[in-house]
Amino acid sequence: MKLRDVQRLELPPSADMHVHLRQGQLMELVVPEIRKGGVDTVYVMPNLQPPITTVAQALEYRSQLQSLEPGVQYLMSLYLHPSVTPEVIAEAAAAGIAGVKLYPQGVTTNSESGVAGDFLEAYSSVFAAMEKHDLVLNLHGEVPGSPPTDGTSLEEAFLPQLKKLHEMFPRLRVVLEHCSTAAALDAVRSCGPSVAGSITAHHLYLTGDVSEVDPLAFCKPIPKSPSDRDALLKAASSGDSKFFFGSDSAPHPLASKTGRPVPAGVYTQSAATQLVLLALEEAIDRGVLSEQDVTQELLEEFLSRAARRFYKLSDPGPARIVLERQGETIPASVRTADGSLEVGLSRAGAVVFSLRWVS
Ligand code: NCD
Ligand code: ZN
Repeated sequence: MKLRDVQRLELPPSADMHVHLRQGQLMELVVPEIRKGGVDTVYVMPNLQPPITTVAQALEYRSQLQSLEPGVQYLMSLYLHPSVTPEVIAEAAAAGIAGVKLYPQGVTTNSESGVAGDFLEAYSSVFAAMEKHDLVLNLHGEVPGSPPTDGTSLEEAFLPQLKKLHEMFPRLRVVLEHCSTAAALDAVRSCGPSVAGSITAHHLYLTGDVSEVDPLAFCKPIPKSPSDRDALLKAASSGDSKFFFGSDSAPHPLASKTGRPVPAGVYTQSAATQLVLLALEEAIDRGVLSEQDVTQELLEEFLSRAARRFYKLSDPGPARIVLERQGETIPASVRTADGSLEVGLSRAGAVVFSLRWVS
């Protein structure tokens, strides 16, 4: 398909398998944006303050999200922490919690309560319980600290732990979240079908040089080289069901993004699907992908079907999203009615498809 020339696309709703929906006013601002980005199913990150470490907290959070926007399916996760025991895993599975997120301590926003040291050793009984109860383990795949001086990234330094985890628990479903390097993609490919990788919209268009200097483009893992970005674009459009969409949309108030230190997180939720399509279109323009690489089937696989299969969800319902070229541009921000809270969007001003829902 000549994506650049396509005037109208009709797709199943996207599944966004990595979202930060926050709490309080910020939650009230971003949750109603989910469907505007063409998404009907989200996997909700637990890095709140305090982190979600109990089943009761996760269920309470889900009911808050549902009351703000009932037209979205919310998959909930727990934050891996010493209080998350094998008993809690059994309780979580019975309550319909989908998985557990592992943050190495200190690697990103709200990771202070994350795991320190050798997590494979410390949490092996928890991982065994997760394997038994078929919960998904979501990895923030970076080691803490500063990048090694030899040019390898914090993500590459983490990959041996992914491989070891998979060897120890071959049936445990694991997602390496927000893959940012060609090496991470290769690591996921080298594991069995229980290991998948999520890919954000912004890692399909950002590179480190931009992300290091633009606060609205600053996130973890930091986007890398053009060749890493291009490897992600190829993986996203490969039809390989090991790779699916997870936006890692991570809103921070504009006021904090313009201060110091800049909090890590790129906000894309309001145009999640549109930004993926824009990145693919630009990749065709640069010659990284050919026009034939991007087909209806591949878009459906990456944006919607692969994730639903991996997470054992039912197929998307009859509702569809329709994307049309009407010259619409990404707004600079979303804000509350009284203007007291504002979140800056990635790629303000870029021309994107207009999106509407049809049932
Ligand atoms: C996320 C956040 O703000 O919660 N930030 C980010 O840069 N991606 C946390 C995370 O997923 O690392
Ligand atoms: Zn995240």
